[in-house]
Amino acid sequence: MLVPRYVTRLGLALAVALAIAGLFGAVAAKPAAPETKVAVAQDPANYAGEDTCLTCHEDKGYKGTAHARTFNEKSPAASKGCESCHGPGREHVEAGGDKEKILNPGKKGVRQASDTCTPCHDRATHALWDGSQHDMRQVGCLSCHSVHNPAGDKQLKAKDEVALCGQCHRAVVNRQFRFNHMPVREGKMSCSSCHNVHGSSNVKLLKAGTTIDESCTSCHAEKRGPFLWDHAPVSESCTTCHDPHGSNNDRMLVAKQPYLCQRCHVTSRHPPTVYEGYLLQNSQNANKIFGRSCVSCHQQVHGSNAPSGKAFLR
Ligand code: HEC
Ligand code: HEC
Ligand code: HEC
Ligand code: HEC
Ligand code: HEC
Ligand code: HEC
Ligand code: HEC
Ligand code: HEC
Ligand code: HEC
Ligand code: HEC
Repeated sequence: MLVPRYVTRLGLALAVALAIAGLFGAVAAKPAAPETKVAVAQDPANYAGEDTCLTCHEDKGYKGTAHARTFNEKSPAASKGCESCHGPGREHVEAGGDKEKILNPGKKGVRQASDTCTPCHDRATHALWDGSQHDMRQVGCLSCHSVHNPAGDKQLKAKDEVALCGQCHRAVVNRQFRFNHMPVREGKMSCSSCHNVHGSSNVKLLKAGTTIDESCTSCHAEKRGPFLWDHAPVSESCTTCHDPHGSNNDRMLVAKQPYLCQRCHVTSRHPPTVYEGYLLQNSQNANKIFGRSCVSCHQQVHGSNAPSGKAFLR
């Protein structure tokens, strides 16, 4: 799927327009819509039935999918078939297939299209969709999923998440191609290992926890504090030192050693700044900036539980 930039821009404009309209109209307009929907939906006489649809239409790749499994009582197949998503179709059938008389979610606004899916998909990992970052920016279910023509698992419109997300988040995906990265490109992890794109209670749509640290330590449990001696920036955020999407430094560090540490520890009595070259020529200080640099000695940089670990040496 390709959603060109102008669509998201248009989306933003729409969102603003909707927000303004919402300020004035929301209270009056909102309750009215579901009522009519329910009224039409409840009358069984308005439905033609899936078999009727299939007399004119091909099944359009829906048969093999999760939606067509009748043994799942919540599936469209077990309820109204095609009309679970397309709405009652009797009028459309009687008019010999009049386009105007049937709902095509693909031709509706982003929000309205998502509304055809959310009645069934509004629980568990989908519970926080409304008002989530994607929802707010007019990225809807159909921006990422195709019910009839999926290209990847989970009815995704692209062959995998890297390709899908890369359509809009190119800069982030590109960092996967840096020298050190999590094994996303290798297929052992995916964007959704860390993110829940359907909405979350954490920042940046992170899946686990309520802070960046909690999200990282949901897998890297040994880095979870509190330690006897905490290192302030670690308790603050792992991303102070690591880029979760990849970097050209070892261990996905945001800067090379010793600069990584010296962004903060510059004028302490130990060590001197790297600019003080004269100290390196003759001194024991050289070992402080070569090799693994600071962490050759300060091994427990994430925090220490040793009674004498105040300087993270053990
Ligand atoms: C009598 C034949 C016939 C039957 C039965 C029928 N359709 Fe159609 N349908 C058509 C025709 C013809 C079109 C228009 C195709 C076109 O112009 O591209 C169409 C178009 C559509 C569209 C696209 C509308 C749009 O705006 O692009 C949808 C969705 C659709 N049908 C769903 C259904 C569903 C769901 C059922 C069963 C309730 C159904 N159809 C039954 C003939 C039929
Ligand atoms: C789970 C929801 C869902 C079910 C079930 C479903 N559709 Fe669709 N259909 C969609 C959506 C969403 C679109 C809009 C196109 C898109 O983005 O995938 C669509 C588009 C269409 C279109 C018009 C676009 C095109 O590809 O020509 C037709 C015709 C159609 N569906 C027919 C059917 C028929 C017939 C069935 C039952 C056999 C059916 N649909 C079942 C969601 C559904
Ligand atoms: C009538 C209820 C219903 C509607 C409407 C519905 N779905 Fe589903 N959907 C289901 C059920 C049930 C499953 C199977 C879930 C499971 O196995 O946990 C499912 C599964 C899925 C899956 C997972 C497919 C897989 O291979 O694992 C995706 C993606 C999905 N739906 C997207 C959509 C989208 C997009 C729409 C709106 C166009 C939609 N659904 C509308 C009931 C629905
Ligand atoms: C930004 C892209 C994106 C959007 C927008 C999106 N999805 Fe998904 N969806 C995914 C990806 C990626 C997966 C597979 C990873 C996962 O399960 O989180 C997925 C998985 C799913 C699944 C199967 C797994 C599960 O959680 O049950 C369903 C069902 C689903 N989406 C429905 C929806 C519905 C309904 C909407 C709209 C309200 C929607 N999605 C919007 C990308 C998206
Ligand atoms: C159709 C375009 C589109 C696709 C595809 C898409 N996104 Fe997004 N995403 C957006 C937009 C627009 C925003 C809102 C950006 C903003 O507010 O700065 C967003 C926001 C996000 C955010 C939150 C950023 C923040 O600052 O809070 C994350 C995380 C994210 N997307 C991850 C993903 C992942 C993972 C995928 C693939 C499964 C994906 N997105 C697919 C358009 C898209
Ligand atoms: C190891 C966990 C992890 C993985 C895997 C991951 N992300 Fe993230 N992502 C994060 C964290 C943590 C942040 C917040 C970064 C920050 O605030 O500095 C973030 C932020 C983002 C943002 C917001 C923009 C930004 O740079 O802050 C987007 C968009 C995003 N990720 C998309 C993706 C996509 C697309 C993928 C898959 C290619 C992906 N992420 C894989 C953890 C992850
Ligand atoms: C879903 C589980 C998961 C989450 C969440 C996660 N990681 Fe990882 N992390 C991994 C896996 C798997 C590896 C690869 C281990 C390997 O290759 O041996 C890894 C490797 C790493 C590495 C070492 C890379 C290298 O070059 O050896 C660092 C650093 C790292 N993660 C930091 C983080 C940070 C920071 C976060 C939070 C933004 C985070 N991780 C979130 C699973 C996760
Ligand atoms: C003050 C900077 C800093 C912060 C903040 C930080 N790290 Fe690290 N991290 C490092 C350095 C430096 C290394 C490389 C250590 C080495 O080479 O022995 C490293 C290595 C790692 C590794 C791979 C090697 C190992 O020890 O397992 C993982 C995984 C990791 N960090 C996860 C995290 C997580 C999770 C957080 C947040 C809770 C975090 N880091 C916060 C500096 C930091
Ligand atoms: C984002 C800023 C920041 C970064 C980057 C950083 N630190 Fe720290 N570090 C701190 C703060 C703040 C303290 C707590 C100072 C205090 O309590 O007086 C601290 C404390 C320490 C201490 C203990 C100081 C004491 O008083 O005993 C050591 C040792 C240390 N850091 C080493 C490192 C090393 C090695 C690195 C690089 C891997 C590093 N730090 C990166 C901010 C940082
Ligand atoms: C050869 C081992 C070694 C190396 C390499 C090393 N340190 Fe240290 N560091 C120490 C020792 C020993 C202490 C004193 C511990 C104590 O007082 O208990 C110390 C103390 C510190 C302190 C505590 C506060 C202070 O000013 O005394 C900070 C901060 C610190 N080091 C940062 C760094 C940084 C940043 C680097 C890398 C540029 C670095 N160290 C490299 C051994 C080393």
